[in-house]
Order: sequence, then C-alpha cells, then structure tokens
Amino acid sequence: MKVAVTGGAGYIGSHAVIALADAGHQVVILDDLSKGHPEAIRQHTFARVDLADEDRVLAVLKESGAEAVMHFAASAYVGESVEQPEKYYFNNVVNTLRLLRAMRGLGISRFVFSGSCAVYGIPEKVPMTEDLPMRPISPYGHSKAVVEVILANYAAAYGLRYAALRYFNAAGAMPDGSLGEDHAPETHLVPLVIQAALGVRESVRIYGTDYPTPDGTCVRDYVHVLDLARAHVLALEALADRPTMIYNLGTGRGHSVREVIAAVEGVSGRKVPVEEGPRRPGDPPALLASPEKAKRELGWQPRFPELKQIVETAWKWHSAHPRGFQK
Ligand code: UFG
Repeated sequence: MKVAVTGGAGYIGSHAVIALADAGHQVVILDDLSKGHPEAIRQHTFARVDLADEDRVLAVLKESGAEAVMHFAASAYVGESVEQPEKYYFNNVVNTLRLLRAMRGLGISRFVFSGSCAVYGIPEKVPMTEDLPMRPISPYGHSKAVVEVILANYAAAYGLRYAALRYFNAAGAMPDGSLGEDHAPETHLVPLVIQAALGVRESVRIYGTDYPTPDGTCVRDYVHVLDLARAHVLALEALADRPTMIYNLGTGRGHSVREVIAAVEGVSGRKVPVEEGPRRPGDPPALLASPEKAKRELGWQPRFPELKQIVETAWKWHSAHPRGFQK
C-alpha cells in the first residue's frame, strides 16, 4: 500500500516508517521538522509540510497517491499542555480535522491514529482494558480523546476506516543503534536515566517515593518502540476487514521508576546518580495495559517484552549518540 506518515521524522513515526517499508509498503513522510529529525529520514519520499497548511497537505497526499494515512504528528508533553492548551487543541485536534478533511476530499479512507493511554486519566482498574471510560485529566489527554470521538463520527457518517492505538510508555530503539529517541526537551524516564548513567546529565530525579506501589515509585507499562511500530502495520493491514479498531498497546507488565533505574544500572554497569523529589502533578500511581485485545484481534505479540531488552536497545542508541542525532 502507499502510506502517508505524518510525523514520520519523530521518535515513534520514524520507527513505524521502517516497519512499513520492511512489510513492503511504500511510504511518503509528511513532517514540519519542528520536533522531528532529518537524520531520522532514510531513503523515503519526504515533504516538509505543516499540517496547518491544508492546501499543501492535500497536494502532497494527492501527488503521493496515498491510500492510507498514519498520523503521528502531534504535540506530546502533558505538562506543557496544561500551560498551553490552545497549542494542543490546534496541533492535535484542529490539524487532525484538517488532515481528515483533506483525506475525505481525496477519497482516502484508511487512517491509523497515534492515541494515548492518557485518554483514560486515572483508571478505575489496572490492567486497563479498552472499555474503560475516557476521562482524561490533561489537555493533552483530552486532545487525543476528542480525536477519537471525531474518528467515530467520521466512520459513521463518511465510512472512514480507522484504528486508534492507545500507547502506554514508548521506549527503546532500533537494536542496531541507528535510530532512537531524541526529544528536546527530554522528559521521558528511560532516556533521562540513561543520560544520567552516561554523565550527560548530573542525575535523575525520582518524582515521588510515597505512592501506593510496592516500592513507593510510579509504575508504568514500558513498550518497545518497534513493537508499537509493528502494531501500526498490523492495524493498517487489518483495516481491510475490520473498519474500526481501538487497541491498548503495552506489554501488560508494570515497572516502577526504581526498577527502570536498576535496569539501566544492570545494562550499563554504571551507577546512576539519583535524587528523590516530590510527586509530579498529574502522575497516576500505576498505569498498566491489558494488551489482550490487540493480541487476539491483530495477532500482535511484543518481541521485546522485557524491560531489560528495552533498556539494552535504548542504551545502545544513547551511548552511540549521547546528545542525540546532531551532536
Ligand atoms: N519520572 C521520574 N523522573 C523523571 C521523569 C519521569 O520519576 O525525570 C517518572 C514519572 O513520574 C512517571 C514515569 O517516570 O511515573 C514515566 O514518566 P514519563 O514522563 O517517561 O512518561 P509518562 O508516564 O508521564 O507519560 C507517558 C507518555 C505520555 C502520555 C502519558 C499518559 O509519554 O505521552 O504517559 O499518562 F500522555
């Protein structure tokens, strides 16, 4: 299939592009490079385009002959979304609506959406299943939930076929160390702990040690970026038979902040300098996916289910690129 990938120069998008190409699909990347990295783009067709520019998006989609769209481009900092909600609603909701309108104009009816476990807010139960209500607690989470509502409406009214994939904590890198995570600013735990181990940062701060969890630190479900990427390809291909899909993507295993630090120490053989600090506002104590629906319906099976595997691949990338792509 010919697939347009927005945000294909970003962390998860760039890994999905490789998974798509490996599965024999033809890719065109749309990215404004505001967060993405040109170095993450391989031999694929690339258009530098801002999704706010609907005419240009339409022209690029038309020229590419895309039959499906995978939509990764979004603003993705929960904390920033609280301070700048307008930015999040424009980038994540309005621009997605523009993209969907352009697709409709061209008769492109297949869409794979970067969703988030942030749509659930503080869950009533863990492991989390897809039938839990969407009760986001941040503008970021709301922006992802609103798009899911829009997608359901488009499916009902216009026959859009879509998959909304709700990721838990994406982490890890290409096992050969050629592609990995590089956010500016970096806020995610795994890269921060590795950078502290490498001495690029002085230390890593644990946000809260008094949570009702076994060791007092927050528990998250870390899922390998290549496993996420493969789930996107499986979902895209399943759209032929299944018009609407919502899946949680996680391993179903939880790891505390202290366990992540211990895993990095184990893999790197270095001591990680740690500071203990107060809780970060808005952090739920434990988020854990039930990935059973994706496994059952998509045949998805994480290939890197162990935290150690995730950390090993991330370590390989960061130790080869201690300051990210450019440095
Ligand atoms: N953490 C620290 N110190 C740090 C950074 C993080 O202790 O310096 C802790 C956090 O408190 C959290 C865990 O490490 O418990 C993971 O934090 P991340 O910032 O890496 O990830 P989040 O779980 O906060 O965020 C993820 C996704 C978001 C999504 C959110 C939903 O990255 O896109 O889950 O809750 F919105």
